Amino acid sequence: MEEKKTQIADNLLLYLEFMKGAGIDVIPASKPAKPSSLPTPIEAVKPPPEENIKMKPKNKSITSLEDIVAELGDCKRCKLSAGRNKIVFGEGDPKATILFIGEGPGKDEDEQGRPFVGRAGQLLTDIIEKGMKIKREEVYICNLVKCRPPENRNPEKDEIAACRPFLDKQIKSVSPKVIIALGKLASSTLAGREVKITQERGEWFDYEGIKVMPTYHPSYLLRNYTPTARKDVFEDVKKVLAYIG
Ligand code: URA
Repeated sequence: MEEKKTQIADNLLLYLEFMKGAGIDVIPASKPAKPSSLPTPIEAVKPPPEENIKMKPKNKSITSLEDIVAELGDCKRCKLSAGRNKIVFGEGDPKATILFIGEGPGKDEDEQGRPFVGRAGQLLTDIIEKGMKIKREEVYICNLVKCRPPENRNPEKDEIAACRPFLDKQIKSVSPKVIIALGKLASSTLAGREVKITQERGEWFDYEGIKVMPTYHPSYLLRNYTPTARKDVFEDVKKVLAYIG
């Protein structure tokens, strides 16, 4: 009983920290939420032990990230290269347990050559560090395309296709236990079919033997600043944490 109480308190704390990390500092006290709208009791979610994140079997036949960067070179394989400032290859632990895949670099990312460093990136960092209790450097983060689409439009099919071999090699190289696909486009690309993100987020699917968790893109969360959307992402990352143990 005591243990259960501690577990509930731990989970509540984790949830509150996640909400805080996602920018919600105040829980409205006016109306008590209906039980159905509260987050369901959570199984114990502990941050994964350090060794789970770092220790991965080494497979010598897999291309290193450095080799993939070299192969990519000064890429001109698609029209996005014309407008880019810097190639945004990806960053993080080359043997991460969790790999996040977004859509494509925005203005800040294009300037810095790093993924998810703008507003959406700050939110993603909070989700990882405050919500999941993992350091950003311990996961790997990349995008469907490595060059900024003009006006921050979605990357187009031919652009995603041109970058795909490099994304696939990156996934193979990192060989994560879980991929978190951020948004409809990343989820649909990995699933090989149109994913309805509002209906299918939180539902595992498989990509080349790797479990994929589709969830909302941080930019969607910024646009839809609702506790429900944040709670949904919280539920999704909780599943990932429970899976990686
Ligand atoms: N920044 C990225 O690197 N990717 C996105 O999908 C959005 C912002």
